[in-house]
Amino acid sequence: MRRTVIAGNWKMNMTPAETKKFIGELAPMVAGLDKCDIVLCVPAIDIPAAVEAASGTNIRIGAENVHFKESGAYTGEISAKMLVEAGVEYVVIGHSERRQYFGETDKTVNLRTKAALAAGLKTIVCVGESLEERELGYTETLLKYQTKMALTGVTAEQLKNVVVAYEPVWAIGTGVTATAEQADEGNGFVRAAIAEAYGAEAAEEVTVQYGGSMNDGNAAELLSKVNVDGGLIGGASLKTDKFTAIVKAANA
Ligand code: 13P
Repeated sequence: MRRTVIAGNWKMNMTPAETKKFIGELAPMVAGLDKCDIVLCVPAIDIPAAVEAASGTNIRIGAENVHFKESGAYTGEISAKMLVEAGVEYVVIGHSERRQYFGETDKTVNLRTKAALAAGLKTIVCVGESLEERELGYTETLLKYQTKMALTGVTAEQLKNVVVAYEPVWAIGTGVTATAEQADEGNGFVRAAIAEAYGAEAAEEVTVQYGGSMNDGNAAELLSKVNVDGGLIGGASLKTDKFTAIVKAANA
Protein backbone atom coordinates (compact mmCIF):
# COMPACT_ATOMS: atom_id res chain seq x y z
CA MET A 1 0.00 0.00 0.00
CA ARG A 2 1.30 3.41 -0.89
CA ARG A 3 2.14 5.83 1.87
CA THR A 4 0.33 9.15 2.31
CA VAL A 5 2.80 12.03 2.44
CA ILE A 6 1.81 15.47 3.73
CA ALA A 7 4.61 17.88 2.88
CA GLY A 8 4.92 21.59 3.47
CA ASN A 9 6.82 23.63 0.91
CA TRP A 10 7.85 26.78 2.71
CA LYS A 11 9.24 28.44 -0.45
CA MET A 12 11.18 31.62 0.51
CA ASN A 13 9.69 32.01 3.96
CA MET A 14 10.96 31.66 7.55
CA THR A 15 14.34 32.47 9.07
CA PRO A 16 16.33 29.89 11.07
CA ALA A 17 15.01 31.33 14.35
CA GLU A 18 11.43 31.22 13.04
CA THR A 19 12.03 27.65 11.86
CA LYS A 20 13.09 26.54 15.33
CA LYS A 21 10.05 28.18 16.92
CA PHE A 22 7.64 26.78 14.32
CA ILE A 23 8.82 23.18 14.62
CA GLY A 24 8.90 23.45 18.41
CA GLU A 25 5.21 24.41 18.27
CA LEU A 26 4.23 21.94 15.57
CA ALA A 27 5.88 18.80 16.98
CA PRO A 28 3.49 18.23 19.91
CA MET A 29 0.51 19.07 17.69
CA VAL A 30 1.29 16.30 15.18
CA ALA A 31 2.80 13.77 17.61
CA GLY A 32 1.33 10.31 17.06
CA LEU A 33 -0.35 11.21 13.75
CA ASP A 34 1.57 8.45 12.05
CA LYS A 35 -0.80 7.33 9.31
CA CYS A 36 1.10 9.66 6.98
CA ASP A 37 4.64 10.89 6.57
CA ILE A 38 4.95 14.51 7.72
CA VAL A 39 7.57 16.52 5.88
CA LEU A 40 8.65 20.16 5.94
CA CYS A 41 10.64 21.32 2.91
CA VAL A 42 12.51 24.41 3.99
CA PRO A 43 14.96 26.98 2.56
CA ALA A 44 18.53 25.67 2.55
CA ILE A 45 19.67 28.13 5.21
CA ASP A 46 17.00 26.77 7.59
CA ILE A 47 17.98 23.11 7.22
CA PRO A 48 20.31 22.84 10.27
CA ALA A 49 17.76 24.52 12.56
CA ALA A 50 14.95 22.39 11.12
CA VAL A 51 16.85 19.10 11.46
CA GLU A 52 17.78 19.91 15.04
CA ALA A 53 14.26 20.97 16.03
CA ALA A 54 12.68 17.93 14.34
CA SER A 55 15.11 15.46 15.89
CA GLY A 56 13.22 12.81 17.88
CA THR A 57 9.86 13.83 16.39
CA ASN A 58 7.80 12.37 13.53
CA ILE A 59 8.58 15.40 11.32
CA ARG A 60 11.01 14.80 8.47
CA ILE A 61 12.94 17.56 6.76
CA GLY A 62 13.18 18.24 3.06
CA ALA A 63 15.03 20.70 0.85
CA GLU A 64 13.47 22.76 -1.94
CA ASN A 65 16.03 22.03 -4.63
CA VAL A 66 19.25 20.11 -5.30
CA HIS A 67 21.98 20.43 -7.89
CA PHE A 68 22.73 17.51 -10.19
CA LYS A 69 26.52 17.51 -9.96
CA GLU A 70 28.34 15.99 -7.01
CA SER A 71 30.62 19.00 -6.55
CA GLY A 72 32.47 21.62 -8.54
CA ALA A 73 32.32 25.18 -9.85
CA TYR A 74 28.57 25.80 -9.49
CA THR A 75 28.40 28.93 -7.35
CA GLY A 76 25.36 29.06 -5.13
CA GLU A 77 24.34 25.44 -5.61
CA ILE A 78 23.94 22.60 -3.11
CA SER A 79 24.64 18.92 -3.82
CA ALA A 80 22.62 15.87 -2.81
CA LYS A 81 25.52 14.63 -0.67
CA MET A 82 25.53 17.92 1.28
CA LEU A 83 21.80 17.60 1.92
CA VAL A 84 22.12 14.00 3.09
CA GLU A 85 24.92 14.88 5.47
CA ALA A 86 22.82 17.74 6.87
CA GLY A 87 20.05 15.27 7.76
CA VAL A 88 17.67 15.98 4.88
CA GLU A 89 15.42 13.09 3.75
CA TYR A 90 13.28 14.62 1.00
CA VAL A 91 13.81 17.13 -1.77
CA VAL A 92 11.34 19.04 -3.95
CA ILE A 93 12.40 18.99 -7.60
CA GLY A 94 11.00 20.89 -10.56
CA HIS A 95 8.53 23.10 -8.74
CA SER A 96 6.66 25.30 -11.22
CA GLU A 97 8.19 28.39 -9.61
CA ARG A 98 11.64 27.05 -10.47
CA ARG A 99 10.48 26.20 -13.98
CA GLN A 100 8.96 29.69 -14.35
CA TYR A 101 11.58 31.92 -12.69
CA PHE A 102 14.83 29.94 -12.70
CA GLY A 103 15.03 28.29 -16.09
CA GLU A 104 14.26 24.79 -14.87
CA THR A 105 13.51 22.42 -17.74
CA ASP A 106 12.32 18.82 -18.00
CA LYS A 107 15.95 17.92 -18.69
CA THR A 108 17.34 19.57 -15.53
CA VAL A 109 14.45 18.15 -13.50
CA ASN A 110 15.50 14.70 -14.70
CA LEU A 111 19.18 15.30 -13.87
CA ARG A 112 18.32 16.55 -10.38
CA THR A 113 15.95 13.63 -9.78
CA LYS A 114 18.61 11.07 -10.72
CA ALA A 115 21.27 12.77 -8.58
CA ALA A 116 18.97 12.98 -5.57
CA LEU A 117 17.90 9.33 -5.85
CA ALA A 118 21.48 8.15 -6.31
CA ALA A 119 22.39 9.88 -3.04
CA GLY A 120 19.51 8.16 -1.23
CA LEU A 121 17.13 11.12 -0.98
CA LYS A 122 13.39 10.78 -1.52
CA THR A 123 12.22 13.08 -4.27
CA ILE A 124 9.03 15.09 -4.58
CA VAL A 125 8.96 15.69 -8.32
CA CYS A 126 6.52 18.43 -9.36
CA VAL A 127 4.50 18.44 -12.56
CA GLY A 128 1.55 20.55 -13.63
CA GLU A 129 -0.15 22.40 -16.44
CA SER A 130 -0.77 26.12 -16.85
CA LEU A 131 -4.28 27.46 -17.31
CA GLU A 132 -3.59 28.01 -21.00
CA GLU A 133 -2.41 24.42 -21.44
CA ARG A 134 -5.53 23.15 -19.65
CA GLU A 135 -7.83 25.29 -21.78
CA LEU A 136 -6.15 24.02 -24.93
CA GLY A 137 -6.83 20.45 -23.80
CA TYR A 138 -3.19 19.46 -23.22
CA THR A 139 -3.42 18.49 -19.54
CA GLU A 140 -3.12 14.72 -19.97
CA THR A 141 -0.43 14.92 -22.65
CA LEU A 142 1.60 17.41 -20.66
CA LEU A 143 1.37 15.61 -17.31
CA LYS A 144 2.38 12.33 -18.89
CA TYR A 145 5.25 13.97 -20.76
CA GLN A 146 6.58 15.82 -17.72
CA THR A 147 6.31 12.70 -15.55
CA LYS A 148 8.10 10.46 -18.04
CA MET A 149 10.79 13.04 -18.75
CA ALA A 150 11.45 13.54 -15.03
CA LEU A 151 11.82 9.79 -14.46
CA THR A 152 13.88 8.88 -17.53
CA GLY A 153 16.72 6.63 -16.39
CA VAL A 154 15.26 6.14 -12.90
CA THR A 155 15.35 2.42 -12.05
CA ALA A 156 12.37 0.42 -10.78
CA GLU A 157 14.21 0.09 -7.46
CA GLN A 158 14.74 3.86 -7.22
CA LEU A 159 11.07 4.46 -8.05
CA LYS A 160 10.32 3.37 -4.46
CA ASN A 161 11.84 6.67 -3.30
CA VAL A 162 9.89 8.80 -5.76
CA VAL A 163 6.89 10.90 -4.81
CA VAL A 164 5.29 12.92 -7.60
CA ALA A 165 3.28 16.07 -6.85
CA TYR A 166 0.62 17.15 -9.33
CA GLU A 167 0.43 20.92 -8.96
CA PRO A 168 -1.73 22.71 -11.52
CA VAL A 169 0.05 26.04 -11.98
CA TRP A 170 -3.26 27.92 -11.97
CA ALA A 171 -4.03 26.63 -8.47
CA ILE A 172 -0.74 27.61 -6.82
CA GLY A 173 -0.98 30.53 -4.42
CA THR A 174 -4.16 31.70 -6.10
CA GLY A 175 -6.72 30.41 -3.62
CA VAL A 176 -8.28 28.57 -6.58
CA THR A 177 -8.11 24.89 -5.71
CA ALA A 178 -8.63 22.19 -8.28
CA THR A 179 -11.86 20.35 -7.58
CA ALA A 180 -11.34 16.97 -5.96
CA GLU A 181 -12.33 15.43 -9.32
CA GLN A 182 -9.73 17.50 -11.21
CA ALA A 183 -7.06 16.58 -8.65
CA ASP A 184 -7.97 12.91 -8.87
CA GLU A 185 -7.92 13.03 -12.67
CA GLY A 186 -4.54 14.83 -12.82
CA ASN A 187 -3.00 12.45 -10.32
CA GLY A 188 -4.47 9.59 -12.34
CA PHE A 189 -2.70 10.86 -15.48
CA VAL A 190 0.58 10.88 -13.53
CA ARG A 191 0.00 7.34 -12.31
CA ALA A 192 -0.93 6.20 -15.83
CA ALA A 193 2.36 7.63 -17.15
CA ILE A 194 4.28 5.74 -14.46
CA ALA A 195 2.33 2.58 -15.35
CA GLU A 196 3.27 3.00 -19.02
CA ALA A 197 6.95 3.23 -18.04
CA TYR A 198 7.19 0.75 -15.12
CA GLY A 199 4.01 -1.36 -15.22
CA ALA A 200 0.72 -1.03 -13.38
CA GLU A 201 1.86 -2.82 -10.25
CA ALA A 202 4.82 -0.49 -9.67
CA ALA A 203 2.65 2.57 -10.42
CA GLU A 204 0.15 1.50 -7.75
CA GLU A 205 2.89 1.82 -5.15
CA VAL A 206 3.94 5.41 -6.02
CA THR A 207 2.70 8.21 -3.81
CA VAL A 208 1.16 10.97 -5.94
CA GLN A 209 0.37 14.18 -4.08
CA TYR A 210 -1.86 17.05 -5.03
CA GLY A 211 -0.66 20.63 -4.51
CA GLY A 212 -2.26 24.01 -5.14
CA SER A 213 -4.16 25.97 -2.49
CA MET A 214 -4.67 22.86 -0.35
CA ASN A 215 -5.77 23.98 3.08
CA ASP A 216 -7.52 22.94 6.28
CA GLY A 217 -10.91 23.43 4.63
CA ASN A 218 -10.47 21.35 1.49
CA ALA A 219 -7.85 18.73 2.46
CA ALA A 220 -10.29 16.04 3.62
CA GLU A 221 -12.21 16.08 0.36
CA LEU A 222 -9.08 16.12 -1.81
CA LEU A 223 -7.48 13.32 0.21
CA SER A 224 -10.62 11.20 -0.05
CA LYS A 225 -9.91 10.61 -3.74
CA VAL A 226 -8.34 7.31 -4.69
CA ASN A 227 -5.43 8.83 -6.60
CA VAL A 228 -4.64 11.60 -4.09
CA ASP A 229 -2.02 10.18 -1.73
CA GLY A 230 -1.11 13.34 0.10
CA GLY A 231 -0.48 17.00 -0.41
CA LEU A 232 2.27 19.47 -1.15
CA ILE A 233 1.22 22.54 0.74
CA GLY A 234 2.52 26.08 0.37
CA GLY A 235 0.73 28.87 2.24
CA ALA A 236 -1.10 26.64 4.72
CA SER A 237 2.17 24.97 5.74
CA LEU A 238 3.32 28.24 7.30
CA LYS A 239 0.66 28.08 10.02
CA THR A 240 0.94 25.32 12.63
CA ASP A 241 -2.83 25.05 13.14
CA LYS A 242 -3.67 24.84 9.44
CA PHE A 243 -0.87 22.38 8.69
CA THR A 244 -1.89 20.21 11.66
CA ALA A 245 -5.48 20.16 10.43
CA ILE A 246 -4.29 18.83 7.07
CA VAL A 247 -2.17 16.16 8.78
CA LYS A 248 -5.23 15.20 10.84
CA ALA A 249 -7.34 14.93 7.68
CA ALA A 250 -4.75 12.47 6.36
CA ASN A 251 -4.98 10.47 9.58
CA ALA A 252 -8.78 10.29 9.75
P1 13P B 1 -0.06 27.00 -2.17
O1 13P B 1 -0.52 25.91 -1.22
O2 13P B 1 0.36 28.25 -1.46
O3 13P B 1 -1.05 27.23 -3.27
O4 13P B 1 1.27 26.44 -2.86
C1 13P B 1 1.25 25.19 -3.41
C2 13P B 1 2.62 24.83 -3.80
O5 13P B 1 3.17 25.39 -4.72
C3 13P B 1 3.31 23.81 -3.00
O6 13P B 1 4.49 23.43 -3.61
